[in-house]
Amino acid sequence: STMGSTILRDERFAILEECDIHYFQKVVGERAVINDKDELEAANVDWLGKFKGASQVLLRPRTTKQVASILQYCNSRGIAVVPQGGNTSLVGGSVPVFDEVIVNLGAMNKILSFDEVSGVLVCEAGCILENLDKYLAEHGFTMPLDLGAKGSCQIGGNVSTNAGGLRFLRYGSLHGNVLGLEVVLPDGTIVDMLGTLRKDNTGYDLKQLFIGGEGTLGVVTKVSLLTPAKLSSVNVAFLACQDYLSCQEVLVLAKKKLGEVLSAFEFLDRSSLDMALDHLEGMRDPLPSAKQKFYLLIETTGSNENHDKEKLDVFLEDAVRTGHVVDGVVAQDNSQSSAFWRIREGIAEALNKAGAVYKYDLSIPVKDLYQLVEEMRAKLGDSAIVIGYGHLGDGNLHLNISAPKYDEKLLLQIEPFVYEWTSQHKGSVSAEHGLGFMKPHAIHYSKTPETVQLMVKMKNLLDPNGILNPYKVLPSIHI
Ligand code: FAD
Ligand code: MLT
Ligand code: ZN
Repeated sequence: STMGSTILRDERFAILEECDIHYFQKVVGERAVINDKDELEAANVDWLGKFKGASQVLLRPRTTKQVASILQYCNSRGIAVVPQGGNTSLVGGSVPVFDEVIVNLGAMNKILSFDEVSGVLVCEAGCILENLDKYLAEHGFTMPLDLGAKGSCQIGGNVSTNAGGLRFLRYGSLHGNVLGLEVVLPDGTIVDMLGTLRKDNTGYDLKQLFIGGEGTLGVVTKVSLLTPAKLSSVNVAFLACQDYLSCQEVLVLAKKKLGEVLSAFEFLDRSSLDMALDHLEGMRDPLPSAKQKFYLLIETTGSNENHDKEKLDVFLEDAVRTGHVVDGVVAQDNSQSSAFWRIREGIAEALNKAGAVYKYDLSIPVKDLYQLVEEMRAKLGDSAIVIGYGHLGDGNLHLNISAPKYDEKLLLQIEPFVYEWTSQHKGSVSAEHGLGFMKPHAIHYSKTPETVQLMVKMKNLLDPNGILNPYKVLPSIHI
C-alpha cells in the first residue's frame, strides 16, 4: 500500500458468489444492488485518491431492517463489509481494502423528528450534514458541528468518526451532543439506544462505543442529537500575527474578552494561506499588505449585535495595542465572512489539488504545537512543502506535507518521527480524523498496551468473526 505497511487479505472471509448477489437483491431490491463500474470505482477510492479497494458490489439499504438482514447474512457467510457514508474520510477508513461489500447509508436520509423546545433532532444516519443544518435553520436552530466536507459527509459518518471540526470550541464533542443512537451489530441485532434525554444514567452508556467506532463495531442507522439555537449576531475576523507566541497570546485574550460569544478560533500559517490562494478558484488574500507568518480566523456568535460588537472591539483594541496582532480585518457582510471561511475550509481541497499529500491530524499541547511544523520543515528542506493549520482553540494541529508525488523515501523521513515527537509531547496521533486504514500501526503512540487489549476484547465481543470494516483501527492484523 501507499502507507508503507504490507497487508494480506484475511482468508477467513468468503469470496462473493452469485447466490450472495441474489440474496442482496431480495433484501434491498435489484436497483439498490450496485455493480455499475463507474459507481463502484468512485466508492472504492477515498477522497485523497490514496486508498483503493476492489469491491464488486455496493448496497444501498433504505431501512434498518434491511441493514440488519445484510449484516446477519454476511456474518453467517463470513463476508466482510465496509460501512460507508459520504466517503470523505481522510484516513482511508471508508473504502474497502480488498473485496469487502460496501454498505452505503446514503438512501437512509429521512429526518424523523425535531423538538423545538428541547432542540433534539432525530434522523437517519445517511442525512447529509449541510442538509440537516439547512433544515434546522428553518426552525431557528443549527448543527453543533460544522466542517469543510459538510456538503457530502453524513451524520452517521460524523458520529462514527467522532468528527470535531470548526464549532468544537463552542459546542464540544459529539460524545456530549449525541443523545441517542440506533445501531445494527455485525450479527444483525438491532440495538435501540435512540433516547432523546439529556440525562440518563441507567447503566453503561454503550452508545459512546459507536461514537468514534469508525464502523468497526456496528452500523449506525439512526441518530438523536442535541442542537443549539441559531443566534443572530455573527462576526468573523481575519488577523495576522508575527510569531507563534503571539497567536497563543491572542487565544488567551480571546477566551478572556470574547468569552461566551467566542465560536471559532482557527489558525493557519503563511504556507497554508498560500496553498489556498494558489490552488483554489476565486481566492483573495484578505490582508494583502500583511505578509506575516501566521493568521487567525476568529468568529463570535451571540444574540445581541451591539454587545458582541462592543466585545469584539475591546478584544481587537487590546490585541493590537499589545502588538500581538499586527494587521486584521473584520468581515463587513456575509459574503466577506464566507470568503474568509472558504480560505480556512478550502486548505484540504487545495492540498489535494497541489499533488501528493501526507496528512497528520494531531493533538499537541498548544504551547509546543508549532515547533513540530518547524522541525519538520528543517528536516525535509526543499523536498516538500510543510504547512500547519488547524483548530488552535482545541489544541489540534493539521500538519500537512505536500509533494509532487508519493515517495517512499519522503515517507520514511516523516514517519515514525512525527508520531514519536507527538508521543513525547504527550499528544494524540489522531485528534479528530480517526485511525482508519492509515494509522492502526500508530495506535501505540497514544494508547497503552492494556488499553489496546481492552479494545481488541470489545471488538471480538461485538464482532467475533471480524466482518465489519476489517483491517481498520486495531493493529493486530497489520504486518
Ligand atoms: P465516511 O468517510 O464515509 O466514513 C468514515 C468512517 O466512518 C469509516 O470508517 C466508515 O466505515 C464509517 N462509517 C460511515 N458511516 C457509518 C455508519 N452509518 N455506521 C457506521 N460506520 C460508518 N473531520 C473532522 O473531524 N473535522 C474536520 O474539520 C474535517 N474536515 C474535513 C474537510 C474535508 C474537505 C474532508 C474531505 C474531510 C474532513 N474531515 C474532518 C474528515 C471527516 O472524518 C469527515 O469528513 C466526516 O466525519 C466523515 O463522514 P462521512 O459520511 O464522509 O464518512
Ligand atoms: C480541517 O480542519 O480543515 C479538516 O480537518 C481537513 C484537514 O485536516 O485537512
Ligand atoms: Zn480539522
